[in-house]
Amino acid sequence: MSRRTLLASTAGFAGAAFTPAWMPAGTSPPASARVNALLERMTVEEKIGQLTLYSDMIRPSPLMINPDIDVTKSEAEQARFQLAEIRAGRVGGLLSGVGAREGRQLQKVALESRLKIPLIFGADVLHGFRTIFPIPLGLAASFDPALAERTARVAAIEMTSVGVHWTYAPMVDVARDQRWGRVAEGSGEDVYLTSQFAAAYVRGFQGPDLSAPDAALATPKHFAGYGAVLGGMDYNAVEISERELRETFLPPFKAAFDAGALTTMSAFTEIDGVPATSNHRLLTSILRREWGFKGFVVSDAFSAEELVRHGVAADEADAARQALLAGLDINLGRGLYRRELPAMVATDKALMAALDDAARRVLRVKEAIGLFDDPYRSLDPDREARDVRNPEHLALAREAARKSIVLLKNEGGLLPLPKSGKRIALIGPLADDFANLDGPWSLWARAGESVTLAAGLRAALEDPALLAVAKGSEIDTEIKGGVDEAMAAARAADVVVLALGEAQAMSGEDASRAEIVVPQAQQRLARAIAALGKPMIVVLSTGRALALSGAIRNADAILVGWFLGSEGGRALADIVFGDESPSGRLPVSFPQTSGQQPYFYNHKTTGRFPESGQDAAFTTRYRDVANRPLYPFGFGLTYSNVRYSATRASKPQFKWDDAITISARIENTGDRAVEEVAQLYIRDRAASVTRPIRQLKRFRRIALKPGESVDVAFTLDQRDLAFVSPHLKWIVEPSDFFVWIAPSALAGEPATFTLLAPEKAAAGDS
Ligand code: BGC
Repeated sequence: MSRRTLLASTAGFAGAAFTPAWMPAGTSPPASARVNALLERMTVEEKIGQLTLYSDMIRPSPLMINPDIDVTKSEAEQARFQLAEIRAGRVGGLLSGVGAREGRQLQKVALESRLKIPLIFGADVLHGFRTIFPIPLGLAASFDPALAERTARVAAIEMTSVGVHWTYAPMVDVARDQRWGRVAEGSGEDVYLTSQFAAAYVRGFQGPDLSAPDAALATPKHFAGYGAVLGGMDYNAVEISERELRETFLPPFKAAFDAGALTTMSAFTEIDGVPATSNHRLLTSILRREWGFKGFVVSDAFSAEELVRHGVAADEADAARQALLAGLDINLGRGLYRRELPAMVATDKALMAALDDAARRVLRVKEAIGLFDDPYRSLDPDREARDVRNPEHLALAREAARKSIVLLKNEGGLLPLPKSGKRIALIGPLADDFANLDGPWSLWARAGESVTLAAGLRAALEDPALLAVAKGSEIDTEIKGGVDEAMAAARAADVVVLALGEAQAMSGEDASRAEIVVPQAQQRLARAIAALGKPMIVVLSTGRALALSGAIRNADAILVGWFLGSEGGRALADIVFGDESPSGRLPVSFPQTSGQQPYFYNHKTTGRFPESGQDAAFTTRYRDVANRPLYPFGFGLTYSNVRYSATRASKPQFKWDDAITISARIENTGDRAVEEVAQLYIRDRAASVTRPIRQLKRFRRIALKPGESVDVAFTLDQRDLAFVSPHLKWIVEPSDFFVWIAPSALAGEPATFTLLAPEKAAAGDS
């Protein structure tokens, strides 16, 4: 039977077509009697109050997103104003303030309001509260979602111990352009990896019981498509197809909601001409009707007000109306809803109904997290001392940091270094720099609490005098005499460790870069040191994949250290001295050059992709750069040698409702224990729409003792082969597939298998 007839018969056999679990439309369950009773008693002003989020003016807060508070007044007056607003029922939640004792006072004021509706307390806790874990991009390099879950659990314990029970995390935007600074906040370029981490973070933040005092309500963000900003420029427009949206950018959100997330944040960005914040199709049709999402949507900071600047709303009243009707519940901004809605809802039934729905959704979530039963949940002033930065949490930070480090290069087995007998020159602006250890969104980290690379190496050395430290340059600028001083230190050493890379402010929000390189001052430093000919190891701090060149690219060894957080220096020392073998893998492709962006491993084959990796005329390429990355997605070395057998399929073909096992033997042929990350990729060889050259479908960390070999096996069924059809529906087609179990997205030789058509259809067709 020809492929064409197979497709036709499948289409005529709709009952057998695969429908992913998230496809059926769901309707929200009715609110509880308590919520309905409250709603009935609420005035318009009180309902709008539930949709109003203020920056906390009363508790210490590192982040002020000011609402319509008169900032010319003194802080004490502003705080008094805010308390009065809370007492009047005009505020639903506070943002960014911490402190359990003060939180109790605030909640007490809320309980003095007419309807006694407790406040919800939110904050941006992405990768730790005071115990800082690696930035999410770094943690993604662990390829260990269970580890991310454990870090999120600890973050939730710490933040709830200071009176915050709602986090604006995880960031689940897939990021395929490394110029975008917010790559740092997510799990990289791949939809499957990001989805696995998204679900893990939600499980970790929320724990097994959402109403427990140490549970933090999670907010997968930014819904949706923000990761595709044009040119990697923050806040820029997004132009992606519906298929791309559904296949690449939406699944991590769905995974997070399936894991129990009850809130989401609308993106700043527009998509196909409609800003996410006024996007009815996104916020209502997809989120609520298709997926049955039962929680609430909060705007990003000022994103509802910005509908005017986007040019889709005539004025702020129009912006408020559009946002509310689209399905935006809470306004995090400058008080748009409270200013504009009261007059409009009085005469607009649809708007009044939307206000009721939004208030109901907020109250339902407040009920789900236990605030009505215990308004003082997460407000126990005794917990902070016990639960913040305790030894267990710090030990997890060290483990997480170790597993996030990626070894890109290790010529001549330079690493690991011995702990004695070798003089080490540690050179670079990031060698002993407390300001750039924690990474973006570590708002509550305290200066000086995290361990620098210098401190980590020194503590691990048998004779600390073997370590000499020289800064050499600032991150962006030269230091007078700095290079000379660094060269003197290098000359006196047996081996040089260069600590280079980005400042933490170079990634995160408002941190897009056109040139994703190590700043020039540091490149000059590296060049000067390399000229001395000493063995040279580069340790990179970065919030994105960088385009490495010159002396840095040519160093003998390269370790990617991201921003590792509280225990970064110690974790790096563990790796540098070989207490543990590196095991991280790149969650983003490292490009050859900045101009190669966007580059992501799961691109299309095109009619002319140079399959063999050989550059040839008239192929998909730039004339001046090879069409492959410098280091591919999934890549990372260990201190041992790991050999993969050929990939095997348990059978050449499998039936529609059956499954297939794909396996390979993986052997540690070296003399060190390692953890290897086996990755399974597929390619659909002919489908009704073009498919990526490879797609990650499974991965597993495997511990291998020296000389040990194991069979790693993954089971796939047709759900793993689904894609979005020409008619924009998730479907599965019978087809032939390539499959790899490999150590990176570019490695290995494929096996093949065939998914057969449903039998009924095949029989009917023949
Ligand atoms: C960011 C969000 C963040 C919010 C609140 C915005 O500028 O885009 O990710 O949650 O601020 O701090």
